[in-house]
Amino acid sequence: MTADAFTRGTDLVDGTLPQRTALENAHQLLHRARTLTTPLLREWVGELDPPLREMAEYHFGWKDVRGRSCGEERRGKGVRPALVFASAEAVGCRARRARPAAVAVELLHNFSLVHDDIIDGDQFRHGRRTLWSAFDSADATLAGDALFTLAFRVLAKTPAPRVVPTVLHLSAAAHEMAAGQARELVLQRDGASGPEQCVEAALGKTGALMGGACAVGAIAGGANEERAAHFRAFGRQLGLAFQVTDDVLGLWGDPATTGKAVGADLAVRKLSLPVAAALASGTAAGRELGERYASPHPPGPGDVARMTQLVEEAGGRDWAWDKTAECLRNAFEHLRDVKPAPGPACHLASLAAAACQRSA
Ligand code: IPE
Ligand code: IPE
Ligand code: MG
Ligand code: MG
Repeated sequence: MTADAFTRGTDLVDGTLPQRTALENAHQLLHRARTLTTPLLREWVGELDPPLREMAEYHFGWKDVRGRSCGEERRGKGVRPALVFASAEAVGCRARRARPAAVAVELLHNFSLVHDDIIDGDQFRHGRRTLWSAFDSADATLAGDALFTLAFRVLAKTPAPRVVPTVLHLSAAAHEMAAGQARELVLQRDGASGPEQCVEAALGKTGALMGGACAVGAIAGGANEERAAHFRAFGRQLGLAFQVTDDVLGLWGDPATTGKAVGADLAVRKLSLPVAAALASGTAAGRELGERYASPHPPGPGDVARMTQLVEEAGGRDWAWDKTAECLRNAFEHLRDVKPAPGPACHLASLAAAACQRSA
């Protein structure tokens, strides 16, 4: 699948940035983001009340289920902190100034993952048991709540530039994220008339926080609200591209690299974006998929393989590549409006390219 995504994305960053350079850049930016945020995250999470702290440390991959330190556990990629830092630099500020904002964004993101795994009933993330399945749903719900509140505590207690606008942006993003998740549940129950309704939900559940990450990075760097709005628009489109890619990886990715069970969305007949496109395709494959989604009998492993094939035959995978390319084009339009300095512009473009050319 990677080759396919590369081919279709080729013209998106050209002129400024070859693909290979973009991906190498992104790799370094993600590494830097994790290096700048992890010590602070560990410090803040360490202040939580013991049962919540232990669960949070397990979720982040720092501790195992018995509270013993982990060596090289698989961890979060650090996409959102990397966006915060690159946005701060794009307005001429040093990345480090945006550290509290980056930590707050990463805490909000992880709160959303903990709750999302409960909502979706998913048992694996980063190749290990999700928090609720390692502990219990009630406990994990509370650990998620602790991460959510900690995000705002970090902002209130750390001397950082422009705390109030940062809180306003992040609280709005968190609300929009919840609204997107809620909209997805409604569509899941009632059905969607086409992929665009699911796109709206994805813009909320994933685009909002990526947009918020870019906006608060720019604000920490001194941007006014008008300029921050362009950053936000850039991040939202990047987030949508990221989510489409996530749904593609959920169908055709390799669990050894994604760390998630492949076909898990189909097994529970989730309305992921490629599926919604396939169902609305008007093709014979789309109709057969629709019958399988409506059947009272839950699909078995053999059925999941057939359903994956039907999504592809009905054009769900092609739709996803086209949508990703469209989102990236939109993102780059917004990036032009931001008028970043050339170096940091490349950082943001690199992160956008990497959001959809990834295997994990
Ligand atoms: C997962 O996000 C949730 C989605 C929005 C698809 P990431 O894939 O960025 O999760 P981590 O940070 O690497 O765990
Ligand atoms: C995650 O969406 C969005 C949020 C956590 C808000 P998904 O449910 O599609 O993502 P994964 O595949 O579980 O990471
Ligand atoms: Mg999920
Ligand atoms: Mg979900």
